[in-house]
Amino acid sequence: MKTEALNIEDVRKLARRRLPRGIFEYIDRGAEDEIGLAGLRHAFDAVTFNPRILADVSQRDLSTTLLGRKQPLPLAIAPTAAAGLVWHEGEIALARAAARAGIPFCIATGSITAMERIAAASNGPLWFQLYMWHERALSFELIERARKNGIETLVLTADTVATPNREYNTRNGFEIPIRASLSGGLDMLSHPRWVWQVLLRYIRAGGIPTYQHYPPGFRSRITRKATWEQVRLTDAMTWDDLRELRQRWNGKLVLKGVLRAEDARKAVEAGVDAIVVTSHGARNLDGAIAPIRALPAIAEAVGGRIGIIADSGVRRGSDILKLLALGADSVMIGRAALYGTAAAGEAGATHALTLLRNEMLAALGFLGCANLRELDTSFVNTPS
Ligand code: FNR
Repeated sequence: MKTEALNIEDVRKLARRRLPRGIFEYIDRGAEDEIGLAGLRHAFDAVTFNPRILADVSQRDLSTTLLGRKQPLPLAIAPTAAAGLVWHEGEIALARAAARAGIPFCIATGSITAMERIAAASNGPLWFQLYMWHERALSFELIERARKNGIETLVLTADTVATPNREYNTRNGFEIPIRASLSGGLDMLSHPRWVWQVLLRYIRAGGIPTYQHYPPGFRSRITRKATWEQVRLTDAMTWDDLRELRQRWNGKLVLKGVLRAEDARKAVEAGVDAIVVTSHGARNLDGAIAPIRALPAIAEAVGGRIGIIADSGVRRGSDILKLLALGADSVMIGRAALYGTAAAGEAGATHALTLLRNEMLAALGFLGCANLRELDTSFVNTPS
C-alpha cells in the first residue's frame, strides 16, 4: 500500500485508478440523484464537537464489547455484495484484515467467495448477512449452512425490498447481467492489472464468478440474469418473518436497515440482539435520512436494551466518534474498507482500518476522553 494514501479519500483515489469504471462506480456511488449520498457527508459535518481539556488522555483505549465479544475497535466490516470483484477473492482479503484488526467481518448473501472458503482462510469472528428470498425454505437452508460454518451472528437486511435505481450502472453496463459492450470492453482493457489479477484469475480457476450462496441450480454467473422467482429478494417480509427467524436462529440476530424509532422498538420486542441504523450507504432510497440524524431518537427508544450499530458515509475516525457519541455502540465500515481492498487486497483493507483507528485515537484525545465509555452526547452539538 502506497504511503501516499494518508486518508480514506486517498485510498478511494487509488481504488478508482485500479478498477474498471463500471466496478468503481458500482461500489462508490449512491442512488438516483445522489442527494442522500451528499446528505451523508453534510450530516456528519453539521455535527460539531465540544472538546474537554486538562483530562489525562495518555492511555487511550478504543476497545468495546460488541454482541458479547470484547474487541479492540468499535468497528465491524459491513456486508458488501460482490466484494470479490474488486480483488480476487476480495471477501477473504476483507475477512483477514478484519481478523487482524480484531473485528467481525460480515459475509454477504451476494458474496462471490463461498463462506466455506472465507471461514477456512480467516480466524476472526464471522457474521452472515441474509437477504430473504421469495422462497423462504431456500433462505432457511442458507442459514443452516451459515450455522454449520461456525457463523455466530446473522444479520437480516430489511431495507432492500425494491431494486434500487442506479442509472450509472445501466450506462456502464454494470447491471446484472453485465452486458458485453464496446465501452465496457475498453473500460476493462484500460485496466489491465484488474483484468490480469482479478478477472483472469477467476477464469483460470474455473470460469466467470458466480454468487456462491445461491442454491446450486439457482447460481447464475454475474454475466447472466437470474430470473428465478424462488431466489428473488422478497418484498413481502414482515415482523412475523423476523420472529420466525428468531425462533430458527440460536446465535446472535441483528436487524439491518432501521431508521425509525418505532421500528427500533419493535425490533427490541421481536428479540433481536442488535439493530443496524443505516441508509445502506445511500444506495437504495435516495433522500433517506442520514443515520447520524436518526440515531438520537432511536437510541432513546432502545434505551440500552439491545446493541446499536450504525453505518453509512463514514470516511474519518471523527465520523465514527460522532456516531458513538450519539448513541451507537459500534460502527460498520462499507466502502472505506472496499476501497482499500481494491487498492491492495488485504494490506489495503488493513491500511484503511489503520487510518480510521489512528484518526479515532487522535480525535478521542482531543475530546479529552480516555475511552469510549466516556463519550456521550455532551461532546457533540447537533443541528436543530
Ligand atoms: C453494500 N451494502 C450492502 N448491505 C447489505 O445488507 N447487503 C448487501 O449485499 C450489500 N451490498 C453492498 C455492496 C456495496 C458495493 C456497498 C458499497 C454497500 C451496504 C453496506 O452493508 C453498508 O450498509 C454501507 O456500505 C455503509 O456505508 P459506507 O460505509 O459504504 O459509506
